[in-house]
Amino acid sequence: MTNRTFTMIKPDAFSKGNSGAILAKIEEAGFRLIAMKLTQLSSAKAAEFYAVHKERPFFGELVEFMSSGPLIAAILEKGNAVEDFRKLIGATDPAKADSGTIRKLFAESVGKNAIHGSDSDDNAQIEGNFFFSGLDRI
Ligand code: RTP
Ligand code: MG
Repeated sequence: MTNRTFTMIKPDAFSKGNSGAILAKIEEAGFRLIAMKLTQLSSAKAAEFYAVHKERPFFGELVEFMSSGPLIAAILEKGNAVEDFRKLIGATDPAKADSGTIRKLFAESVGKNAIHGSDSDDNAQIEGNFFFSGLDRI
């Protein structure tokens, strides 16, 4: 069990003004913010972040979308963080997400699905380090 995960409020949710509502859900679920920033990825950086998907047919679309506008990146803390956060955000496709999940409430499609959550402890650390440095003091 790990205590930290990494998230992004994706450009679709940010541009619709849903960031505050999504952050409220995250905090209500017991996650504490460790680091947070508003930023925008270049297409090269988005491709690097999602390199694991580079052979997938949706890769070009994913990179274009994730670099299309501002997003909020954050590191979150809670017991069992990775697993509990994946439950809170729901299935990748909002049509298959459980009711009450962030993707069910705010995502519009499998591509534009409002939020990211790390899928393992190792990836939570790698992804957090991708956006933030100097966190060893926190
Ligand atoms: P994420 O990494 O963003 O938290 O999403 P996930 O684990 O639920 O899904 P993953 O398989 O890692 O896919 C990463 C992102 O790629 C986009 N995608 N588009 N058009 C498609 O069929 C498709 N499939 C995946 C989504 O934005 C997904 O979140
Ligand atoms: Mg994933």
